Amino acid sequence: MTGRTAVILGATGVSGRALLSHLTTLPGWNVIAVSRRKPDFATPARHVAADMSNPASCREAAAQLADATHVFYTAYIDRPSWVEQRAPNAAMLANMIDALEPAAKGLQHVCLLQGTKYYGHHLGPYKTPAREDDPRHMPPNFYFDQQDYLIEKSRGKSWSWSCARPHIICGMAIGTPMNAIAVIAAFASISKELKLPLRYPGGPAAYSVIRQATQGDLLARAMVWMATNTACANEAFNVTNGDHFRYEHLWPKIADLFGMPVAAPQRIDLQQFMPAKAQLWAGMVRKYGLRVADFAQVADWRFATYTFNSDWDQMSDTNKCRDRGFVSSVDTEAMFLSELQRFRDERIVP
Ligand SMILES: NC(=O)c1ccc[n+]([C@@H]2O[C@H](COP(=O)([O-])OP(=O)(O)OC[C@H]3O[C@@H](n4cnc5c(N)ncnc54)[C@H](OP(=O)(O)O)[C@@H]3O)[C@@H](O)[C@H]2O)c1
Repeated sequence: MTGRTAVILGATGVSGRALLSHLTTLPGWNVIAVSRRKPDFATPARHVAADMSNPASCREAAAQLADATHVFYTAYIDRPSWVEQRAPNAAMLANMIDALEPAAKGLQHVCLLQGTKYYGHHLGPYKTPAREDDPRHMPPNFYFDQQDYLIEKSRGKSWSWSCARPHIICGMAIGTPMNAIAVIAAFASISKELKLPLRYPGGPAAYSVIRQATQGDLLARAMVWMATNTACANEAFNVTNGDHFRYEHLWPKIADLFGMPVAAPQRIDLQQFMPAKAQLWAGMVRKYGLRVADFAQVADWRFATYTFNSDWDQMSDTNKCRDRGFVSSVDTEAMFLSELQRFRDERIVP
């Protein structure tokens, strides 16, 4: 177990932060966190600042990443459309691996974080349960570019790659575009402040459809398992909590957690309605001593609109992971409640 150096590319996001927390508790790992901004939380890991959109910045950082044995790629740039996301996200991975690979002579593995967008979940109904070997959808999709890049780049080399495909990663992160816990926590606490019951803000079909999620910590453990297990080399794995949920059953429990009544769903355009709550939020920050004053950093209402209105089955087949030996699971309803409570304990929401 000695002599392993993990480099987490995108270490401050919802997935990267969970990976950073996990890896820094493991014996025998030296951990380096890479992102543009310094982590806004305590970590024993060394931070290397790099803008992966910029090849020169990657080359400069690579000198400090030469010890890398295991690279975990969890970076992401948000763009308004799926098509626009392709080029910047494909380029970030290639820029950094092109720079890092010649410097890291002991490189063993690059683990890429993907998601169920690989199967076209973001486009509407898709074939469920989704299996890792399902045919790709009509491109573009930056996951395809990133995976193909790693396949080509690793050809004939001594390092291997793997891909993790989670769904709705739940964990702690501030100011990131895709965080289901953050949007639920912010929506519930604002509803409560306005003395409203907790109403699911998406359509009725989305309220009752079957869903799945992936706890950040479980994903972190799965990615380390994939990166260090030769049976996982050059393979992709679906990674979810292992069970399913419907918001219609979870929502009343969330209302209970926040100490408020629940009412029937009512679809509202969160992107239009919620930014106007910035002043209300400023008052809540003062009243409850909250940590994040900038309302725009609290929750991304475009993502919220998308996720609360996804009214098609969301289901991955996770047999491949289990068959190869990763058998951990998480109770998703309990996970939502504990992650939401964490947002309260850390004074992100009251
Ligand atoms: N969130 C989910 O629910 C979810 C679900 C399934 C799949 N996924 C996939 O998982 C991957 C990671 O998503 P995430 O939600 O964990 O991302 P995230 O929370 O938005 O974090 C992105 C990370 O990338 C870093 N980053 C962004 N631009 C950078 C740049 N130019 N140079 C260096 N670092 C940069 C950010 O730090 P700085 O801004 O400080 O640089 C941050 O650490 C994505 O492919 C996403 O599609 C996410």
